[in-house]
Amino acid sequence: MTSRAFQIIAGVVKERSGIVLMPEQSYLLETRLAALLQRLGLGSLDVLAARLQSPGSDGLAQEVAELLTTNESHFFRDGKPFDHVRAQIPRLHRARAPGLPLRFWSAACSTGQEAYSLAILIAEAQEADPALRQRRFEILGTDLTRSVLERARQGLYTQFEVQRGLPVRMLMKHFTQVEGRWRIHDRLRQLCRFEQANLLQDLRQFGRFDVIFCRNVLIYFDPPSKTRVLEALAAQLAPDGLLYLGAAETALGLTDRLEPLPEIRGVYRPSAAARRAIA
Ligand SMILES: C[S@@+](CC[C@H](N)C(=O)[O-])C[C@H]1O[C@@H](n2cnc3c(N)ncnc32)[C@H](O)[C@@H]1O
Repeated sequence: MTSRAFQIIAGVVKERSGIVLMPEQSYLLETRLAALLQRLGLGSLDVLAARLQSPGSDGLAQEVAELLTTNESHFFRDGKPFDHVRAQIPRLHRARAPGLPLRFWSAACSTGQEAYSLAILIAEAQEADPALRQRRFEILGTDLTRSVLERARQGLYTQFEVQRGLPVRMLMKHFTQVEGRWRIHDRLRQLCRFEQANLLQDLRQFGRFDVIFCRNVLIYFDPPSKTRVLEALAAQLAPDGLLYLGAAETALGLTDRLEPLPEIRGVYRPSAAARRAIA
């Protein structure tokens, strides 16, 4: 692949997803786009790059961007954020008027494990505390990539996938085995709704959230895109809501709209500046 072709393809990916590709990652383009080249009968990445520059290449550009996303996920990833959010549920419940739902957002949900981990902990919190059973909960999962959203909606996981992070007790309690795979129970699946959304686009349509998980996606973005997404997410948080980032991610130095909680790394609440921006 010529460096010009790399620049064109990486430019499309950056524009469509925010993901920054470095020249040393050109092997990623070769592996992830090989099947697309074959399906479209394109001889090389140089031909693909030329096609991306021709009119009417919108759908192709979107497909290329989606193929370059990394969709790695697992249940209860990193543990601690889930322990922390579990402990926040009673506080959020007491702070909200009866009848209002508590709203959770897994922004960049990939194949759904993060959203379903939240559903499991909510169901178990309701079991343990009868007061929470009166509360309605909503979980929205969004992602750029359509293929992962289809999998998330199915709520069907392989043995390998459920072995990653899901305690056996929870597997037995909340999943049913179907032809060698594991399906999450309908009651939990119905708590979750999955929609396609690009974090770089207008997010106001999704409304206000009490908890946002946006984990292991901003690591792929450059600082201006990180700032843009963090400020857009801060604007969608309730004043006493919380934003959870991934273990390798931070909002520090990128925006003044979020302030870190002192007791745990990677969890933020809206700052006074965010509250002023929302008001
Ligand atoms: C590594 S997965 C993270 C999944 C989950 N949050 C976790 O931590 O396990 C990153 C996800 O971000 C999605 N993604 C990448 N760029 C995006 C964008 N601009 N808008 C929305 N989702 C995006 C990818 O499709 C991918 O599924």
